[in-house]
Amino acid sequence: MNKNEEFIVDIIDSGFTGEGIAKRDGMTVFIPNAIKGEKVKIKILKVTTSHAFGKILEILKQSENRKNPDCETYAKCGGCSMRHIDYLKTLEIKKNSVISTLKKALGKAIEINEVIGMDNPYNYRNKLQYPIGIDEKEKPTMGVFAERTHRIISTQNCKIQDLLSQKIANSIFQFILDNNISVYNEKNLSGALRHIIIRIGKKTNEVMITLVTNEKNFEKEQELVNNIISNFSEVKTIVKNINNKNTNVILGKENVILYGNGFIYDYLDDFKFKISPMSFYQVNPVQTEKLYGKAVEFANLTGKETVFDLYCGIGTIGIFASKKIKKLYGIETVPEAIKDAKENAKINNVQNAEFFADNVEKFLPKFINQNNIKPDVIFIDPPRKGCDKIALETLLKIEASKIVYVSCNPATLGRDLKILEKKYNMEKIAICDMFPFTSHIECVCLLSLKK
Ligand SMILES: C[S@@+](CC[C@H](N)C(=O)[O-])C[C@H]1O[C@@H](n2cnc3c(N)ncnc32)[C@H](O)[C@@H]1O
Repeated sequence: MNKNEEFIVDIIDSGFTGEGIAKRDGMTVFIPNAIKGEKVKIKILKVTTSHAFGKILEILKQSENRKNPDCETYAKCGGCSMRHIDYLKTLEIKKNSVISTLKKALGKAIEINEVIGMDNPYNYRNKLQYPIGIDEKEKPTMGVFAERTHRIISTQNCKIQDLLSQKIANSIFQFILDNNISVYNEKNLSGALRHIIIRIGKKTNEVMITLVTNEKNFEKEQELVNNIISNFSEVKTIVKNINNKNTNVILGKENVILYGNGFIYDYLDDFKFKISPMSFYQVNPVQTEKLYGKAVEFANLTGKETVFDLYCGIGTIGIFASKKIKKLYGIETVPEAIKDAKENAKINNVQNAEFFADNVEKFLPKFINQNNIKPDVIFIDPPRKGCDKIALETLLKIEASKIVYVSCNPATLGRDLKILEKKYNMEKIAICDMFPFTSHIECVCLLSLKK
């Protein structure tokens, strides 16, 4: 097989990001935008020793699951990858991709016990995060990065963003244009505004805006703040975050409150949560309630248990389960998030919780040794890179009767489960679609200690 060759192929499977898969000359060919069951004419774009990549030239037989993508930037943007597929079908693709990833990691067949999809998979995000920069014509632009690049695709109407957040972002960007406020130029690291981050409490309708800047102060700063608050009464706070490093990390270390208290509130079920700019908060609150509900169901708590909530963020999972817990310990690396977690416990009248700001892998071995505390149930919800090896080894030493592992990355989940398998059986696994139409999926697994 050679680059630029053209073939007609049958799409026999779907890949992890929703791309179609065909076989030709014993090789696997990945074809973005093609759907299982279709017959397509393709052109080969790249060939490696084991596989190739192609692009569709013509669809000869169309899948009944093909949908018209309802988004003008879909073909260019790096956000969604499954908008051309019927939503229910995307859930099946995600389920199969988790099964295949875990099967590869664990070396045995696994079953997904439940797939938790969204009734209305649109405008679900509570966090808009748009880079601002310079386009090819040297003009300011705001939007999302094209896949695997730093080219900004101008975005005014993203179908997964909250409508009010999108409206506020558009209005801020218009103000930037109208007032010639300088925007960040990655090429020479000059210019002021780098990112707009808008978080909305979907239940409270409270909005927090973080303006990430390359410079300590930018022109018309106060005018911009006045403009936002006079147009949008929902905006409760505006924070300037200073990031003058040449890095892909979005937030810098320094925050300056320009308006309000520097935080907003939201509710998950009946629990109220304080959210500040540096703290993690799940981006899809409708699904978060279902995800946490499933995690708590899997834990099957009776009220007598000592529980660890590892990688606890602002304390959400533990507080969500707190009525069925005797004593809760939460551990999280971001100090601002732990400050929020402590306050969230107070706001929700949770008196049986303690929170610690530290790395799980550093804190856990020390804490267990010094305090002789043995948890009955451990929730773990690490970032995409999964758990550190020391954290996993400590979990194996602790021997809690149950571990409920919440993961946003099936690959690292599989790697970690393989280690935990030494002492734990995997009892159940559910997947929850926190990120409809993207390639991402959240998993929740119940592990029980081997007898
Ligand atoms: C996927 S989030 C989950 C947060 C929380 N459970 C929730 O649902 O909102 C992962 C959290 O782990 C924290 N984190 C990352 N590395 C960590 C580490 N080594 N030790 C403790 N916390 C860590 C992050 O700051 C983030 O808050």
